[in-house]
Amino acid sequence: MKKLLTGLKPSGELTLGSLIGGINQSVKYQDEYESYIFVPDLHAITVNQDPKVLKERIRKNVALYLACGLDPKKNTFYIQSENLYHANLSWILECNTYMGEASRMTQFKDKSKKNENVSVGLFTYPILMAADILLYDADLIPTGIDQKQHVELARNIAIRFNNKYGDTFKIPEPMIPKVGAKIKDLKDPTKKMSKSDDSYKGTILLLDSEEDIRKKIMGAVTDSDNKIYYDEDNKPGVSNLLTIYSSLKEISIDDTVKHFENSNYGTLKREVADVVVSRIKDIQTKYNEIINSNIIDEVLDTGLKKMNEYAKNKYEEVLKKVGLGR
Ligand code: TRP
Repeated sequence: MKKLLTGLKPSGELTLGSLIGGINQSVKYQDEYESYIFVPDLHAITVNQDPKVLKERIRKNVALYLACGLDPKKNTFYIQSENLYHANLSWILECNTYMGEASRMTQFKDKSKKNENVSVGLFTYPILMAADILLYDADLIPTGIDQKQHVELARNIAIRFNNKYGDTFKIPEPMIPKVGAKIKDLKDPTKKMSKSDDSYKGTILLLDSEEDIRKKIMGAVTDSDNKIYYDEDNKPGVSNLLTIYSSLKEISIDDTVKHFENSNYGTLKREVADVVVSRIKDIQTKYNEIINSNIIDEVLDTGLKKMNEYAKNKYEEVLKKVGLGR
């Protein structure tokens, strides 16, 4: 069975975009692949985080993964920072990465433009990501399009390392989901619905109340022509609502458009709100059962033990090949 590995940075609350663009895909993959799902908390501190909020969110995110339908019997869950081999391997990989190739990462360029105090960690972050992947011989990395370049960097580092020191790392492949991949912000449908956007005005959180969900969807930005059809460029708001509906109902965009043929925007929004509320209520019921139970610790302890063993072997092989230690 091929190994699939992915993580969602706990830098913000999980959103409807995380569900439709990422978690739902992982739920489908869990029957086809050996799946590793981890919380990349070391990645979150590349930008400023409140320690108390961060710690709570790590736990919340694991509970939400389970509540969204990721089965702990089919997936291995773990937290990056609890396994010391990630950061250790990252250092060795940093020493095998050129400044030139690291400097080409477009996400760093974008993020460092917006921030005044940019940490060194934000720059080396893709190399830590390469360590996350290469430690476990992962075959496939499902991520958003924004992470594709980072997976390519991981490939290049692995290929170079293998050439220099002998066959050590599996070469991973990015896996970009085609449908439902990008849910947009409800207030500005030209940009992605982001978990790192503090205001959350155009963002639906998986732990939002029903009232907030309805308010946000009824207030979604559309356009003035009051005709319902799919056109991302000219009707981004309406298209976004159609994408949300089609993803949650698991029907095609064409069938979704047909369903709303004779409706106005008010009806469209109300029906979208209904499906979102129904899905999120179901998630929250399960979440409430999980969050204060022992399940989270049991799942994470099991995952850590398994992944730590695997990582230890890989790391010791790397030390030997590079000539480190006794
Ligand atoms: N960089 C990813 C993000 O920002 C999170 C991540 C860290 C990741 N390490 C990874 C994703 C390894 C896939 C594989 O969303």
